[in-house]
Amino acid sequence: MNAPVHAAASGLLTNATLVTLDGDAGYGLVEDGALAWRDGVIRFAGPRAGLPAELSGDAVDAGGDCITPGLVDCHTHLVFAGDRAGEFEQRLQGAGYEQIARAGGGIVSTVRHVRDASEDALLAQSLPRARALLADGATTLEIKSGYGLDFDGERKMLRVARRIGDELGIGVRTTFLGAHALPPEFAGNADGYIDAVVDWLPRLHAEGLVDAVDAFCERIGFDLAQTRRVFETARALGLPVKLHADQLSDGQGAALVAEFGGLSADHVEHTSVDGVAAMAAAGTVAVLLPGAFHVLRETQLPPLAEFRARNVPMAVATDCNPGTSPLLSLRQAMQLACTHFRLTPEEALRGATVNGARALGLDDRGALRAGMRADFVRWRVRQPAELCYWLGGRLGEAVYAGGRRIVQ
Ligand code: NIG
Ligand code: FE
Repeated sequence: MNAPVHAAASGLLTNATLVTLDGDAGYGLVEDGALAWRDGVIRFAGPRAGLPAELSGDAVDAGGDCITPGLVDCHTHLVFAGDRAGEFEQRLQGAGYEQIARAGGGIVSTVRHVRDASEDALLAQSLPRARALLADGATTLEIKSGYGLDFDGERKMLRVARRIGDELGIGVRTTFLGAHALPPEFAGNADGYIDAVVDWLPRLHAEGLVDAVDAFCERIGFDLAQTRRVFETARALGLPVKLHADQLSDGQGAALVAEFGGLSADHVEHTSVDGVAAMAAAGTVAVLLPGAFHVLRETQLPPLAEFRARNVPMAVATDCNPGTSPLLSLRQAMQLACTHFRLTPEEALRGATVNGARALGLDDRGALRAGMRADFVRWRVRQPAELCYWLGGRLGEAVYAGGRRIVQ
């Protein structure tokens, strides 16, 4: 197993094109920049000429490469077993995602594989996906449960998510998504299943396994009343909420998660103007998931003009999952966000850094600024728009998390 590359957590890069994203707009570009960090924290990010003497010393010459904050993938389901390539083929023959789910495939078919896998086997299958995301610049990953759908299965997934963070030396935020789909043993009894979910949540939280709570509010998921029960349990525990909202239909999920002061409403293709207004008032981030949009060949665009008009921050994430978005690069998600949603490359980069961090409630990362975590990426590109321009390939020259070089 490849251990993280543990260099010192302190260092200095010069002759860099810094893409600081500091401030509310613009790339925050600094040509001929210097980046200095100590003990995992950025101490200086600015013009080389302004580098304080006490931070100068042995420097790595970045040769003019762009340095961005480490990418933050704020929505993934990357812990799973098996795959659903067969469903991909069925959909290409004309079957619909909802149709496959109603016939006992979809999420529930992944549940069977996850329940059958040991914790170690689940880790072994999931780690390569996390490594692929890291290799293309992600230094913080959110990872959801939701393919166990019983206490032991959900616990196993969350434990694996924590182990991935430890193994790779990166920040992992876990999200409990017990209310993802109805497991077969609860067929016809969704309310009874929600009783079980709200019983498991405090127990999993007591084990330190839960950082946030999510649900799939949809006609093939759970309704508003059921989602509300999950959110009330989260609120009683002081846990932040987020929601798979309005992906396939307008179920008024965005307004519900905003009512709970939620971190984010995710997917949001069918969110109404009222839903956007509620998000704006609550400070809820819109998490755009162009991978699922692309793979499902969706046509309904999220209300992008409304998000912009009301200053709703937009994040971009992979939604890495075996059904709707087998996507192993956040940079590729940025590319898809530009192509399908016409985000500007700057919006896409903000979406995968500062706004992704905000969607996780993290204020110590997402920009290059003194005092932030030393999570950053050196890219073999000359201008930041290239990050959204190239399809595929390997652009990362080096990835640093907490000041340590974790990929080279
Ligand atoms: O974000 N929409 C629900 N959940 C996932 C899909 C999960 C799956 O199909 O396995 C999503 O698209
Ligand atoms: Fe998702």
